[in-house]
Amino acid sequence: MYDFRPAADCPKPEAYRQLLEAAEALTAGEADGVANMANIAALLWEFLPDMNWAGFYRMVDGELVLGPFVGRPACIRIPLGKGVCGVAAAEATTQLVADVHAFPGHIACDAVTNSELVVPVIRNGEVVAVIDLDSPSKARFDEEDRAGIERLAELISERI
Ligand code: SME
Repeated sequence: MYDFRPAADCPKPEAYRQLLEAAEALTAGEADGVANMANIAALLWEFLPDMNWAGFYRMVDGELVLGPFVGRPACIRIPLGKGVCGVAAAEATTQLVADVHAFPGHIACDAVTNSELVVPVIRNGEVVAVIDLDSPSKARFDEEDRAGIERLAELISERI
């Protein structure tokens, strides 16, 4: 049985330390990328409060295609450069968006989303996926979240 879950009053740096440790333990030695993305999505959901969607889009033939996630059904294909995910993938840079309604071209998969963090997963210099986190709260994600999710993206880049 896995019981990966931080204590309710766990400070954010400690929650990310535990999240990274759990991600390492769950994906080490497992070659199946879908299984690993599914477990990472579940871990993100367990560890990070105040979210309505957490998961992956994968780069497939030059566009983003929905991968394993937790949350409501989402749009399946996102062209590069479109929406927060498409910009993160096209520019290979993290997008930390305090208010998605102020982001030009934001794709509203779920009307409750107000803020978003999208981190590219880069392998051999190429974007192979993005990690997408959505929250119903404005400005839910901060620099600690960015740093934590960027470390996670690096950890799993060879495992998805
Ligand atoms: N809002 C995203 C689309 C993906 S869903 O939020 C799951 C975007 O603008 O790229």
